[in-house]
Amino acid sequence: MTTIAVTGAAGFCGSHIAATAAARGMDVLCVGRRPGPVGRHVRWDATAAPPDLTGADLVVHCAAAVGDPVPGSRAESAMHSVNVTGTARLLEAAAGRPVVYVSSASVYAPGSRRPLDEGHLVGGQRNAYGRTKAAGEALALAAGAVVVRPRAVYGPGDPHLVPRLLSRVRAGRLPLPGPDVLLSLTAVENLADACLSALGWPPGAYNVADPVPYRRDAAIRAVLRAHRVRARIVHLPLPLARAAAAAAETLAGSRRDADPWLTRYAVDQLARGVVLDVTKARRQGWTARRTLADYDPSATGRDTAPAGTLPGTRDRVS
Ligand SMILES: NC(=O)c1ccc[n+]([C@@H]2O[C@H](COP(=O)([O-])OP(=O)(O)OC[C@H]3O[C@@H](n4cnc5c(N)ncnc54)[C@H](OP(=O)(O)O)[C@@H]3O)[C@@H](O)[C@H]2O)c1
Repeated sequence: MTTIAVTGAAGFCGSHIAATAAARGMDVLCVGRRPGPVGRHVRWDATAAPPDLTGADLVVHCAAAVGDPVPGSRAESAMHSVNVTGTARLLEAAAGRPVVYVSSASVYAPGSRRPLDEGHLVGGQRNAYGRTKAAGEALALAAGAVVVRPRAVYGPGDPHLVPRLLSRVRAGRLPLPGPDVLLSLTAVENLADACLSALGWPPGAYNVADPVPYRRDAAIRAVLRAHRVRARIVHLPLPLARAAAAAAETLAGSRRDADPWLTRYAVDQLARGVVLDVTKARRQGWTARRTLADYDPSATGRDTAPAGTLPGTRDRVS
């Protein structure tokens, strides 16, 4: 039986990857500070030492410090030690085993209006998260790993994106920065499927997203409906949203280590129409099967269907 080590398997994406691997008949090592949903727990603090990967044939490196810390804060330096030094430790322990590194579309330089393929410039990231993910993936690429770049991952158990969005609803209104845009999202089930498929792909970077991009406002209305939240979307002028975010960052910076309630990065995530071109992953025979139409936040979560047999989703594949 193949044994796969999944780092960060207690987290949102990692738990889906670990559970999907187990459902496909793999033996799973959940490598991290807390146990994962399946398999055996191998304790690892990425800031301390390389993990013990004894017995693993394959590795998916999903552990990361995520968020948007105040520049100069302790959280920011912790992010570097998990996402960069921790990745170096993981790659050292992997010792030539096939590795998939879960990166992010946040590594791409901002500014393009065209769909981004993997040749788009990596650089000019707007925060420590983007910079440290880029530095981590550079180490992974140099070590011959496969790097997957999802964007805005959603699905059951998401502790980040959708909860943040829902917390912004006030008096039946949800303010969104700027006009409606087209953007890519990645269903967590698609990410899990891609990570396991990617273990057989040639080394390099691959975008991973749902089959087609979404109109932002329609996508958010679908999420609100799925959560039974009644709210009207109102468009906030972009300069106003950015100014509010800058003020929130300054306030948080003056109270060391407090998390800003809004950041310019978060505003850009919603306002910039970033579309990922997934042709390169498709050329490896990978097809994203889930879309937002399948989104069910009350689902217990993980795909337990083997690859290629997600019920009720095939007719929506583009
Ligand atoms: N969610 C998104 O929208 C999104 C988008 C693009 C890329 N990604 C990437 O997807 C991956 C997973 O993100 P996520 O959304 O699942 O975040 P998450 O739920 O916060 O999970 C992160 C995982 O990393 C682990 N981790 C953090 N610090 C660690 C340390 N010092 N030692 C060992 N493990 C540590 C966490 O462990 P604990 O459980 O012990 O805290 C957790 O299991 C990350 O690489 C992220 O960059 C996510």
